[in-house]
Amino acid sequence: MVKKNACIFISGEGTNLKNLINRSRDYCFPISIKLVVSNNSRAKGIIYAKRNAIPYIVINTKMRNFENQIFFFLKKYKISIICLAGYMQIISKNFIKNYKKKIINIHPSLLPKFKGLNTFSRILSNKEVKTGCTVHYVNEKLDGGKIISKRSFYIERNQNEKDLKYKTQRLEYLAYPEAIIKIFRASF
Ligand code: GRF
Repeated sequence: MVKKNACIFISGEGTNLKNLINRSRDYCFPISIKLVVSNNSRAKGIIYAKRNAIPYIVINTKMRNFENQIFFFLKKYKISIICLAGYMQIISKNFIKNYKKKIINIHPSLLPKFKGLNTFSRILSNKEVKTGCTVHYVNEKLDGGKIISKRSFYIERNQNEKDLKYKTQRLEYLAYPEAIIKIFRASF
């Protein structure tokens, strides 16, 4: 199988990155991770890039030309898909317009509900019965692009934010690879 080259954008823990690296070792998994981009030099997730000898760059989003720097590397590594995984920076309209390939994101709620930050506390104060995660295409609207896949679970009584985060992330490790397979099944 000829795999597509992927780039993962991170800012923090990088557990989704770690999971995608593991999944991409599978011969049948449609992507190979060729680049990691972090906007935070202290992101723990960088360690997974290092351990797996995946090239990574740390970008300074305060620099005027940081997007051009990213574009340079996306081209260098012939990247066909960008997967945002806990990347805490809005992708600009300009970036979306100029990057003609796929950009996807994973969000810790059942979109269109609870877009944006602090999802778990809002889910709890809204007394939701169910929650989960969503993988979607990135467009110029925050967490607003076309949905690719979702996974959900029922919220039990007395669950706190930490519990919700734990359960949601376990589902993310299934949902993100599933969504990537779904995207490329159509185009292979
Ligand atoms: C995930 O829960 C994801 O839904 C959200 O940020 C978190 C990133 O976690 N966008 P990690 O850095 O992959 O551990």
